[in-house]
Amino acid sequence: MTRRRRIYEGKAKVLFEGPEPGTLVQYFKDDASAFNNQKKGVITGKGVLNNRISEYLMSRLSEIGVPTHFVRRLNMREQLVREVEIIPIELVVRNVAAGSLSQRFGIPEGTPLPRSIIEYYYKSDELHDPMVSEEHITAFGWAAPQDLDDMVALSLRVNDYLSGLFLGIGLKLVDFKLEFGRLWENEEMRIVLADEISPDNCRLWDVKTNEKLDKDRFRQDLGRVEEAYQEVARRLGILPEGGPSDVKGPKTLQ
Ligand SMILES: Nc1ncnc2c1ncn2[C@@H]1O[C@H](COP(=O)(O)OP(=O)(O)O)[C@@H](O)[C@H]1O
Ligand SMILES: [Mg+2]
Repeated sequence: MTRRRRIYEGKAKVLFEGPEPGTLVQYFKDDASAFNNQKKGVITGKGVLNNRISEYLMSRLSEIGVPTHFVRRLNMREQLVREVEIIPIELVVRNVAAGSLSQRFGIPEGTPLPRSIIEYYYKSDELHDPMVSEEHITAFGWAAPQDLDDMVALSLRVNDYLSGLFLGIGLKLVDFKLEFGRLWENEEMRIVLADEISPDNCRLWDVKTNEKLDKDRFRQDLGRVEEAYQEVARRLGILPEGGPSDVKGPKTLQ
C-alpha cells in the first residue's frame, strides 16, 4: 500500500491526507506527554483504545445532534475525519476541582464545583497553552463571538450528555478538554467538535473509590496506566475483541 501524505505529527496523533478531498486520517499513537511536553512516555495500547473510545463517544454525541468531525473508524489505530480549520482554543469544562484549578485557587481535588465552569486556553506549544479570556479570543480574532457562543453551547451539551453516560458506568466526569473546528459546506460554515475525546483529555474517577482512570495516572506516576484506559473501554463495552491482549494488535496494524 502506498503510504498517505503525512500532514501533521502531534504529540499523540498523526494526521494523514484522507482518501477524498476534505478528509483526513487520524492515526492514534501510544505516545504520552504531560506538563507541556516535559514528561514523555509510552502507554502501550493507548492509541488503539483512544481510537475506539473517541469513535464511541463521538458517535453517541452525533446521535444526539452534536456535529463532529468523525466519519468512521478505519482500523485499530486510524479513523477517518472531516478536515476542519481548527480554532486555536482549547475549551476545558470542569465539574469537580482537580489539576490546575485546584492548584491555582487552593481548592482540594475532588471538591464539587458550585456549577460547571468553562475555561479557555490558547493552543500554542511554545507559549505552553496559556489561559485566556473571551476578550483575548475575540480581540485577537481567534474566534468570532458567534463561534465562541456555539462552542460554549456545544460544550455544555457534551458535558450534560457525557456526565450521564459515564455516571451510568460508575465513572465521574471530573473535567475534560475539547477542540472545535470550522467546517464549510456550500458557503455555509458550522462549528464542529474535532480532535478526540478519551482518557487523555478527560478526568474520569471511579464513583465509589475515586480511583483515577485517566492520564493523571501517567502524570502522577500512579502505575497501572494501561489498565486504566482498558477499564474505561471495558465499562463502555468496547474493549477490542480478544480482550486486552488484542490491544497491542499485530505489528502490521500498529
Ligand atoms: N478534523 C481535524 N482537522 C484538522 N486538524 C485536526 C482535526 N482534528 C484534530 N486536529 C488537530 O490535529 C492534531 C492532533 O494531533 P495531536 O497529537 O493531538 O496534536 P497536538 O500535539 O497538537 O495536541 C491537533 O493539533 C488537532 O488540533
Ligand atoms: Mg492534542
